[in-house]
Amino acid sequence: MKSYRLDPGHGLTVHDEDEPKPGRGQVLVGIRAASVGFRDLMVLAGNYPLPIAPGVVPGCEGVGEVVAVGEDVTRVRPGDRVAATVFPRWLDGPFRRENAAQLGTMVDGVLTELALLSEDGVVGIPEHLSYQEAAALPLAAVTAWNSLTSGNELRPGATVLTLGSGAVSLFALQLAKLAGAEVIATTSSDAKAERLKALGADEVINYREHPNWSERVRALTGERGVDLVVDPSGPLSESLRSVAASGEVAFVGYTLSGAEGAQPIDPGLLFMAGATLRRIATGSRAHFLELNQAVRVHRLRPVIDRVFPFDRVPDALEHCRSGRGFGKIIIAN
Ligand SMILES: NC(=O)c1ccc[n+]([C@@H]2O[C@H](COP(=O)([O-])OP(=O)(O)OC[C@H]3O[C@@H](n4cnc5c(N)ncnc54)[C@H](OP(=O)(O)O)[C@@H]3O)[C@@H](O)[C@H]2O)c1
Repeated sequence: MKSYRLDPGHGLTVHDEDEPKPGRGQVLVGIRAASVGFRDLMVLAGNYPLPIAPGVVPGCEGVGEVVAVGEDVTRVRPGDRVAATVFPRWLDGPFRRENAAQLGTMVDGVLTELALLSEDGVVGIPEHLSYQEAAALPLAAVTAWNSLTSGNELRPGATVLTLGSGAVSLFALQLAKLAGAEVIATTSSDAKAERLKALGADEVINYREHPNWSERVRALTGERGVDLVVDPSGPLSESLRSVAASGEVAFVGYTLSGAEGAQPIDPGLLFMAGATLRRIATGSRAHFLELNQAVRVHRLRPVIDRVFPFDRVPDALEHCRSGRGFGKIIIAN
């Protein structure tokens, strides 16, 4: 079988390896589709917040078919269609440091033909989704679900602001609309703005034309601000200026750099925002199961940008780096 590995000093390399055998509590999954995103670029560039084990198999979003199970496995059987969970040890409850072993950084991930996973680290995938569609869920959709559902209650009619048209924000938009929210989105181009509107965004702001976009958000909400900001891109100061008092900023990540991106936060701004800033770490197995139920009931379909074959992962990453895409970048095995 073939696996990508991150070899110190050599970057991404392909290895021919022996097929692993599942031990007690383990399942062997024939990976049928995976997905890459901005996170993988950070991992490759060595500026990801979690440690990266030398020689690790990268990739944290993978789905496939169970081909063999080890002793005492009861949750799944050979033939089941499953998705890997990004934090295999985080089953439920709040995120804790002891559950931080993440696929594709601290432990082997899914850019491989066969992945050895724990039985607790896989969940079934919704029947109406193909493998390629389901590969969009494990990181981006679970993160969006956690952002929308684990903080303040999201009531119908609440206003949600999603930043950029990355995969997390697209799922946040789709799921917030299902919950009856009004959604304001930001993006970098008019073409992406049209696609966001087609997905249900009520208002879209071009952040290149309006670098102080919080002023537009305030104007659109009668100066009140939004109930929830899903912020995977920054700058956080603009999110804090956009959120209503007692609202919440789900702080997911920081894609932008320089003047538009990560900047020091003024403590006065943080104080006066009067909102909760909640760091999101993807989600637990329980979050994934809840998400799957919502995806099933509403027959939600992820937005797929492009599909690359397994041997073209470097091209897929290059496409991701361009920032031109809209939706998930899928790797088909
Ligand atoms: N905390 C967590 O659990 C978690 C989970 C998943 C992802 N993340 C983080 O959240 C961020 C977004 O992830 P994602 O998977 O949604 O990203 P993605 O699908 O790769 O999309 C990134 C989006 O950011 C915008 N962008 C702006 N400047 C960019 C640039 N220079 N290069 C690339 N994209 C640029 C683009 O949309 P526009 O043109 O519309 O602005 C682009 O579509 C990343 O930092 C990632 O590491 C965190």
